[in-house]
Amino acid sequence: MSTKQHDIKPSEITPEDVFFKRREILQSAVALGLFPALAGRSRAAVLPASGEFSGLASWPGSLTDTPNSLEEISSYNNYYEFGTGKDDPVRNAHTLVTDPWSVSVTGEAARTGDYTLEDILAPHTLEERIYRLRCVEAWSMVVPWVGFPLADLLARFEPTSQARYVQFFTLADREQMPGLRSPVLDWPYREGLTIEEAMHPLTLMTVGVYGKVLPNQNGAPLRLIVPWKYGFKSIKSIVRIHFTDRQPRTSWNMAAPHEYGFYSNVNPNVDHPRWSQATERRLGGGLFAPRIPTLMFNGYAEEVAHLYAGLDLVRNY
Ligand code: MTE
Repeated sequence: MSTKQHDIKPSEITPEDVFFKRREILQSAVALGLFPALAGRSRAAVLPASGEFSGLASWPGSLTDTPNSLEEISSYNNYYEFGTGKDDPVRNAHTLVTDPWSVSVTGEAARTGDYTLEDILAPHTLEERIYRLRCVEAWSMVVPWVGFPLADLLARFEPTSQARYVQFFTLADREQMPGLRSPVLDWPYREGLTIEEAMHPLTLMTVGVYGKVLPNQNGAPLRLIVPWKYGFKSIKSIVRIHFTDRQPRTSWNMAAPHEYGFYSNVNPNVDHPRWSQATERRLGGGLFAPRIPTLMFNGYAEEVAHLYAGLDLVRNY
């Protein structure tokens, strides 16, 4: 049986749920003021097919410390969805499918909906920012991240005055993420910031490292980097952004509330219940490298201390 091309309705050739989903995504793009210029952009238009960014601007506030090597940054990871060992993510994360990718925006904002990664990234200019990553396990790295201020993205969704916090969720797909078979955390991995923290110009929506597209084990295709907080706040592979008026639940706080608070600012003056937070070991320096003092807010006190004026940072750890 033959049918003339123009007799076929799109809903007949595309399964209905996919058709309506696509229509919703397009409507979201229209709502964002992106259509028709940006809708239908290819992945290569926002993330280079070669994997290498060209002409990245370098951020004037970058650390001058020598960054860790790409090998160190991409082979010693915390990404529990791919296993709890530091070398599990580099071995296992190849099963993560990052194209296509979409992010759903929900809650207290004027422009909620589902957005493709292409819609998310297209209007933003990427830059390289060298930040310290300080892990709660008392090691640190210096990393040249590639991204753009989260504030610029959030502003596009027009959060309402009720949006006092922002919550983020990672993909949770058992097919792609072998670590989900373990109940080590309550999946999906989730994190949260106050709206002031989320809108702070240091908070980076991150898509790359060392001038290249993020390796899967580092949280491709889209992750957060919040440089004045312990690394676990820097959630990977984000699929949902939720604006809310209530302090959101966060994975590590749910797992061990006495050890991991909502704020989780790097604070050498507050011990972790099981170890001191006063010093850190810079990865790559070898086992016998001297430990270095940990800096308040990971060295960003001047920029962020005002966010916590009047807050008891011992109780609000
Ligand atoms: N995000 C998800 N989804 N799952 C995780 O297990 N680990 C966190 C954070 N983001 C984690 C995550 C922790 S504990 C750290 S220290 C950083 O990612 C590590 O980032 P890196 O592997 O790129 O160095």
